[in-house]
Amino acid sequence: MSQGKRVGIIGAGNVGATVAYSLAMLGSCHEIILRDNKIDVAKGKALDMSQAASAVRSHTVVSVAEDMSDLVDCDVVVITAGSPRLPGMSRDDLLMINANITKEVVQGVAKYSPQAIIIMVSNPLDAMTYVALKESGFDRSRVIGMAGILDSSRMAAFIQEKLGYGGGQIRASVMGGHGDDMVPLPRYSTVAGVPLNDVLTQDEIDEIVDRTRHGGAEIVGYLKTGSAYYAPAKSAAIMVDAILKDTKQIHPCAVFLEGEYGYEDVVSGVPVMLGAKGAEKIIEVTLNEKEEAMFKKSCDSVGDLIQTLNENKFFEGN
Ligand code: LAC
Repeated sequence: MSQGKRVGIIGAGNVGATVAYSLAMLGSCHEIILRDNKIDVAKGKALDMSQAASAVRSHTVVSVAEDMSDLVDCDVVVITAGSPRLPGMSRDDLLMINANITKEVVQGVAKYSPQAIIIMVSNPLDAMTYVALKESGFDRSRVIGMAGILDSSRMAAFIQEKLGYGGGQIRASVMGGHGDDMVPLPRYSTVAGVPLNDVLTQDEIDEIVDRTRHGGAEIVGYLKTGSAYYAPAKSAAIMVDAILKDTKQIHPCAVFLEGEYGYEDVVSGVPVMLGAKGAEKIIEVTLNEKEEAMFKKSCDSVGDLIQTLNENKFFEGN
C-alpha cells in the first residue's frame, strides 16, 4: 500500500475535476483518484492533470477508478456526484434523485475506504451531508459538507468590490445552511481587523448580505447551463488540504449538530476546526437575537428536507 496520502474524487464534472486540479497544483497528496461513470472523460482529465502536475514539479499523480471497488484506502473522499436541476423538476424531485445517488456512492466509500473522511459537495448540500452521515455509519467528525468557505469567500469578494480596497485582508463570516436562508454575519466580518460597519453603511452591508445569499444563482444566471465551480472546488480543496496537513485551522463547514447551538439531528454550517481526524472541534459563536432567529430559520429549512426524506421512507431498511 502507498505510504502517501490518497484522495478520491467522485464525479469528474466541472466541480470534481477542478477540485482534483487544485489539489494536484497544491501537491498535498501523492495520489488523486477520479471516479466517474464517463470513464474515458475521467481518463482524459486525469492524464491532462498529471501532466499539469509535472509542469509545476508537483509529485501528485492523477488516476481513474473504473469501479467503486478501485477507490480503495483513500484518506479523504470528495463527493461531487449528483444531478443538476432539470426543467420541470421540483426541489423535492432533485432531493430524492441526489439522495439516491449519494446513498449508493457513500455505501461504496464505506466499503472500500472505511477510514476515509468524506467531504460532501453535492446539493442540496446540508441534506446530502446528512444522507452521507447516515449511509456511511461514520462518526460525524468524518462527514463534512463544503459550503461555508464558498459562501464566506463570496461575501468577502462582494465586500472588496463594494469597498474598492482590502483584497486579501477581508474575513467574512457565513453560518447556517447552503441555501437562500444562509446566515451571513457582518458583525463577525472584518477588513484587516476593522469591523465592517466602520467602513460600510448599513444599506451597503444589507446589499452584500443579500447578494451573498443569492451568490450561486447569480452565477447560474450568467452560465445558464450549469452552476459555479471554481470557488466551490477551491473551497473543497482548502478543506482537503487542511485535513491532510492536520492544520487545525478553523473553517466554516456543514456538520451534524448534536446539541451545539441548541440543535440536534440536523446538519448546518458552523465554524469547525479541521485536522487529520476531520471535524475535530465545533466552535460555538455567540449570536444575538436576530442572528439566532436567522440560524433557526436556516436549520428549519434543512430540517424540512430531512423530513421529506423520512416521509419518502428513504432511511428505512438501514
Ligand atoms: C453554488 C452552488 C453550486 O452555490 O451551490 O454555486
